Amino acid sequence: MSTNAVITLDALPPTTHTKPISSQKWSSHFAFVMAAVGSAVGLGNIWKFPYMTGTSGGGAFVLVYLACVAMIGLPILIAEVTIGRAGGASPMGALRNLAAKYRASRHWQIVGLVGALTALLVLSFYSVVAGWALAYVPVAATGKLAGISGAASETIFNTILADPVGQIGWHTAFMATTVLIVSRGIGGGIERAVTWLMPMLAVLLVLLVAYAAAQGAFLDGAAFLFAPDFSALGTEAVLSAAGHAFFTLSVGLGAMIAYGGYLPEGVSIPRTAITIAALDTLCALAAGLAIFPLVFAHGLDPAGGPGLVFVTLPVAFGGMPGGDLFGALFFILLGIAAVTSAVALLEPIVATMVERGFRRSSCATMLGLLCWAIGLASVFSFNVWSDVRIAGDERTIFDWLNLLTSDILLPLGGIAIALFVGWAMPLRALGGEIDLGPRWLRAWRALVRYIAPAAVAMVLVSALMGAAA
Ligand code: PHE
Repeated sequence: MSTNAVITLDALPPTTHTKPISSQKWSSHFAFVMAAVGSAVGLGNIWKFPYMTGTSGGGAFVLVYLACVAMIGLPILIAEVTIGRAGGASPMGALRNLAAKYRASRHWQIVGLVGALTALLVLSFYSVVAGWALAYVPVAATGKLAGISGAASETIFNTILADPVGQIGWHTAFMATTVLIVSRGIGGGIERAVTWLMPMLAVLLVLLVAYAAAQGAFLDGAAFLFAPDFSALGTEAVLSAAGHAFFTLSVGLGAMIAYGGYLPEGVSIPRTAITIAALDTLCALAAGLAIFPLVFAHGLDPAGGPGLVFVTLPVAFGGMPGGDLFGALFFILLGIAAVTSAVALLEPIVATMVERGFRRSSCATMLGLLCWAIGLASVFSFNVWSDVRIAGDERTIFDWLNLLTSDILLPLGGIAIALFVGWAMPLRALGGEIDLGPRWLRAWRALVRYIAPAAVAMVLVSALMGAAA
């Protein structure tokens, strides 16, 4: 693979497609869609969406989240992939190239850098949570979930959290796997993992929904998810819904710019983006439908926080025939879904360094090590440092990392990316990449130019003001 992607585009006429120097390409359109879906579908859908819905009061949060995915997340997803394909493989390089080409400020590249650093912060705790999923594989496989109650399930989860050494072990295994895959270059391995294993995870999710329908308080669960009670929805919950729309679609930090850099020409960006958003949303809703009926049937607390999935689903596995096997398989697949997202978090910064002439494997290892070390703070948040508070509230270091990235940095990154395509890139150039008719193209541009940035900025400012008050 070529390592020198710093190209000067000033000389090129504005409508010329400039290919990333990388010779690495997804082997097919399908492979790209699957890899992007693999990046989108992960812990965000199965771990984060249900617990946030639980802590934010249910249906109203879900509705706002869906609106944010459609009106903000999807347009920005299209924007990121477009920047990537038009500008080159690394987010920073792509922004620099396009800014030079369209005579915009070179400072736009900072957005790429900040995004790539944000991704490292996300990866640091993402890996810890993925480690919890892995920790459940032996627990399930050895029959420890058989017939457990909600309370017993809570005890198992708390035991995992209380053990820093065990958590570090799983966190290390997860991070090492991510580094290994990124070192080899995304493509082959990821493609194979997502084309076979992600559909398997989807099948298991459907099975869990069926189980929840048969054994859980299905109507209560569905009502909690879909019957909106807007009185329960504060500005902070709206911001969380918007932030989660970014998180779940993997936008706001340049991951999709990096992936778009590998996207062959001739692939429809809008169609691909819609497929990604639709599959991602379906997975989140399925996870919610699997979890909440069980939460209500077993007297668990929907607002229980980040442990929700890890406490609820084991109860389901414990109650079903063949649950040992299904449980183990589910947590393996969840771990794999998390890896396909984690590589998307590590890739932007690695791609940036590779462009600067560093060896891919060295960058992946060094940066993985850095994330791993930051991740230790999240591990300790649940045991040795569980009393440490950064601000005068209840939040642990883990909570802060989670909140800072998802509720602040991703929305800010999203605003910047929207403004870049909306204002710095000419419509003609956008039309060359995005195969929408002129009307839809303008509608999309209005979304990224005005509506998405203004809406996100408003929510961000009012939530921050509310939090400061
Ligand atoms: N979208 C992933 C998930 O839902 C997380 C992620 C965020 C991945 C940003 C890459 C970039 O789990």
